Amino acid sequence: MFFRNRFLFLLALAALLAFLSLSLQFLHLIPVNPIKDDGLHSKNRKRIMPNPLTEPPAIDPIYEAQFYCNVPSIPERSMEGHAPHYFKLISVHVLIRHGDRYPLYAIPRTKRPDIDCTLLPNRKPSHPLLEAFISHMSKGSEAQMDGSLSSVPRYPSHSLCEMGELTQTGIVQHLQNGQLLRDIYIKKHSLLPTDWTSKHLYLETTGKSRTLQSGLALLYSFLPEFDWKKINVRNQWSTIFCSGHCECQRRNHYLEEEQRRQYSLRVKNIDLEKTYADMARIVGIPTRQLRASNPIDSMLCHFCHNASFPCTKNGCIAIEHFKVIKKHQLEDEKERQKKKYYYLYALLATHPILNQTVNRMLRIAEGKKEELFVLYSAHDVTLSPVLSALGITGAKFPRFAARLVFELWRDEKKYKKNFIRILYNGVDVTFQTSFCRDFDKYFGKMMCPLEKFVNFVKQDMFSPFNTTSYYEACRRRPF
Ligand SMILES: *[C@@H]1O[C@H](CO)[C@@H](O)[C@H](O)[C@H]1NC(C)=O
Ligand SMILES: *[C@@H]1O[C@H](CO)[C@@H](O)[C@H](O)[C@H]1NC(C)=O
Ligand SMILES: *[C@@H]1O[C@H](CO)[C@@H](O)[C@H](O)[C@H]1NC(C)=O
Repeated sequence: MFFRNRFLFLLALAALLAFLSLSLQFLHLIPVNPIKDDGLHSKNRKRIMPNPLTEPPAIDPIYEAQFYCNVPSIPERSMEGHAPHYFKLISVHVLIRHGDRYPLYAIPRTKRPDIDCTLLPNRKPSHPLLEAFISHMSKGSEAQMDGSLSSVPRYPSHSLCEMGELTQTGIVQHLQNGQLLRDIYIKKHSLLPTDWTSKHLYLETTGKSRTLQSGLALLYSFLPEFDWKKINVRNQWSTIFCSGHCECQRRNHYLEEEQRRQYSLRVKNIDLEKTYADMARIVGIPTRQLRASNPIDSMLCHFCHNASFPCTKNGCIAIEHFKVIKKHQLEDEKERQKKKYYYLYALLATHPILNQTVNRMLRIAEGKKEELFVLYSAHDVTLSPVLSALGITGAKFPRFAARLVFELWRDEKKYKKNFIRILYNGVDVTFQTSFCRDFDKYFGKMMCPLEKFVNFVKQDMFSPFNTTSYYEACRRRPF
């Protein structure tokens, strides 16, 4: 009887959760049809004027939102490629989130943001390589791409963006990333031989156009005018890049626990409930429906593109609404890092991709000269658990065009050993990871021995489950 009740409770909760809006990071998985404009937009549009990007003392939803937008400006300072001179860079693994995109969800009965996804080199934000990029992409039919990838467009092209489509901003963000990595890894450290071929690269993307296009933009400025015949892109069907190792019951259990935590935090937030109710009144739909349309996704797009929020005859959605929802998202992130469910989920979710990465590093450490540069083009739901699993708890939620870089170095002088560095958006986070945190014996905290990372991925990451293997850890036990 107890089990039956518990089952019914879980069923009811699951149905509720499926209906209610979850926070942004889980929502990619649910497709939503674009909703047509219905003419309820208004004339008196207000403009959002972002403040300059200065570091504030406390949680500031506007500052955080601007950071998240990552609007291209002057290139930032980055710490990639820093090492003592007797270290040789032997491989680089890059995990990116796609760039700025059109919303995945529409707020019912409002005008969709008016954003043009065609690429125009003389429209801001732009990049010196944008024009050459467009022309190179149109010649890409010789590339080898897994299955359905070959039919995905290689650059965005709709004058009214489609749902989830990469924007020009998104392309420019990754042209900047690629150029920065080129300056460091190709020009300074000669990571690839000048006559590099397809075997020197490993490229993998999910099947969405925004990830493929982001990856190609980064690759184009990393290796300008590359020969398409040397490009081989694999398709990853799973957003957590679990390849052939996706079955893991216990991972799903922690994800459900995490969603329950999110739900209970949300219903406790009175400001948030009031905000949703007010927005629902403006739009003229039930609050539940408004919440389920995940309005923050759409509002972020307005915000990042400096476009006014939608209005109806009942009023306008305002920056005050935006601030309350964004602030809740940030509080949710904070609580998530305190509670353990997401961390435990993340350990299981990211083992396959970390295992793959470690295996590649080990092959290169043994002298193999293949897959020297690895690019995984992915989503926030890919990067976020990787950051959590590595123990980088201070990391911000992955913004548009976020990059996480793993560098593999060989000490050619002293220890003849291999070392890694890990960088998130150009910031060195090597010693924030759980496996290198207490390790400062070598080189004034610049390097972490590869074996620390290997031991973590191959075994220590399962210690919270009282086991040393992925399959053991995944097996569902009674809870
Ligand atoms: C945003 O729009 C306002 C009003 O049109 C304009 O003054 C401002 O310069 C714009 N900001 C950016 C960053 O484009
Ligand atoms: C991890 O890598 C090893 C190769 O060293 C492979 O045999 C194993 O199947 C991988 N496990 C997972 C879960 O990816
Ligand atoms: C691991 O073992 C410890 C001590 O036996 C126990 O307290 C803990 O609950 C176990 N953890 C899991 C996830 O089973």
